[in-house]
Amino acid sequence: MEKIKLGFLGLGQRGNGLLTNVLNNFPQVEVVALCDEYADRVEDCIKRVEEKRGMRPTGYTKHSELFQDANVNTVIISASWEAHAPLAVEAMKCGKICGLEVGGGYSVEDCWSLVHTWEETKTPFMFLENCCFGKEELVATRMAREGKLGEVVYAHGAYGHDLRSEICGGVKNRHYRLRNYLIRNCDNYPTHNLGPIAKLLNINRGNRMLKLTSMASKARGLSAFVQGKEEFEFLQDKHFAQGDVVCTNIMCADGSLISLKLDTSLPRAYSREFTISGTKGLFSVPDQVVLTDDMEFNHELEMKEYTGNNKEIYEQNLPAVWRNITQEQIEAGHGGMDTLTLQAFFGAALSGEEMPIDVYDAAAWMVITCLSEASIANGGMPIDIPDFTNGKWILREPKDVAELI
Ligand SMILES: NC(=O)c1ccc[n+]([C@@H]2O[C@H](COP(=O)([O-])OP(=O)(O)OC[C@H]3O[C@@H](n4cnc5c(N)ncnc54)[C@H](O)[C@@H]3O)[C@@H](O)[C@H]2O)c1
Repeated sequence: MEKIKLGFLGLGQRGNGLLTNVLNNFPQVEVVALCDEYADRVEDCIKRVEEKRGMRPTGYTKHSELFQDANVNTVIISASWEAHAPLAVEAMKCGKICGLEVGGGYSVEDCWSLVHTWEETKTPFMFLENCCFGKEELVATRMAREGKLGEVVYAHGAYGHDLRSEICGGVKNRHYRLRNYLIRNCDNYPTHNLGPIAKLLNINRGNRMLKLTSMASKARGLSAFVQGKEEFEFLQDKHFAQGDVVCTNIMCADGSLISLKLDTSLPRAYSREFTISGTKGLFSVPDQVVLTDDMEFNHELEMKEYTGNNKEIYEQNLPAVWRNITQEQIEAGHGGMDTLTLQAFFGAALSGEEMPIDVYDAAAWMVITCLSEASIANGGMPIDIPDFTNGKWILREPKDVAELI
C-alpha cells in the first residue's frame, strides 16, 4: 500500500488523543474521515484536522458509512468496549485495515468472530495494546530473550488506576465505564497488564494460556466515593456489581503462572505492577529492582535496600526503539508508548508485514474478561481458555512487537 488514508471511529477521550498524535507525529498519514455517534464530536475533530492539515475530512455518525467510504483504507477503532468486536469484524469484512483499541471481551463467541473473520478475509488487523511497547516491559523482554532472567516461571501485572471520578462521571461524560461497573463483575480491563506478559511468554507462539481462576473482592469503593457528593446524587442508592479488586491466576502450557489484578475503584496511584520471576533473576517494576544471579546481592536484605538499582540495568538493556525515541514522541501520549504503537501499526500496514499484535493475541487477551466473569460467578471455578489458534501455537515462531537489540 502506498499511502495510509485513515478513518477514525470513536472520537471520545482516546480517539481525540490518538488523532492529536497522528496529526503531530505522522505527517505521511492522511486523515480522510472521522466518525462518531455524537455529531458534535465529529464536528470538533473535523475542525482540528482542518486547522492542522488544511484539508477537510468527511464526517460520519454511522460506522457503516465510514466502512463503505472507498477513500478510507485504514481505520482506528476506539469506541466503547461493547462495540469493539462487532465493529472490528465489520471493518475487516469491508477490507479496511483495522487497528482496534483495547478493552475486554463480552463473550467467547465475539472473540472467535474476530479470529474467523480475519482468517476468512486476511484483512490486516492489529490490537493496539500500547503497554506492549512500554519501556520497562521491553527491557524485561530483552533480558528474558538474552537469558538473563533464566527460565521465566512467574509473571504478575495489574491495572491499578483510581478511576472513581471517571466511572461515576459516566453519564455526564457520555462514557461507557459506568454502565459496566453497575452490572458486571470481572477483570474488565486485562490487556494493559496481560499483553506485555503474554508477548514475553510467547503466548500463541510456542506457548498458550490453558486455564484461569478469578475471584473478586466486595464492591464498596464506588458507593463510598459517591456518598455526600451532589454531582453523584443519582448513584447514592445504586448497587455496583463490580468488585473493587479482582485477582486472576492463569496457568500456561509451559508451566508458567500469570497473576493479574484489577484495582480501579479504591484510592491509589497508577501502577501496572509489572514483575517477572525467572530461575536466574527477578525484574520488579513496583520495587524498582532488578536482581540476577550474575550480580552479587544479599538475599537476606529487604527488597527496599535495592530500590533504584534498576536504572543502570535499564540503560544497559534499553531496546532499540527506546534508544531512538524523541522527546516529542514521549510527550505524545502514555510516555511514548502510543507513538511506538502507531508506528508499528502504520509500518506493518504499509509494508504488508505481519502485524506485531495480531487477531490471535486480541482474542486470547480479550477473552480473559468474560472468562473471569464466569469464574467469579462460580466461586473461583477454573475455566478453560480456548486455543484461538486451533493448534497453530505449537509451530508459530515467536514475534516481539519491536526490535529489541
Ligand atoms: N490504550 C490506551 O491507553 C487507552 C486509553 C484510553 C482508552 N482506551 C480505549 O479506547 C476506547 C475508547 O475509550 P474512550 O475513553 O475514548 O471512550 P469514550 O466513551 O470517551 O469514547 C468512545 C466514543 O466512541 C463512540 N462510539 C461508540 N460506538 C460507536 C459506533 N458504533 N459508531 C460510532 N461511534 C461510536 C462514542 O460515541 C464515543 O464518543 C476504549 O475501548 C478504551 O478501553 C485505550
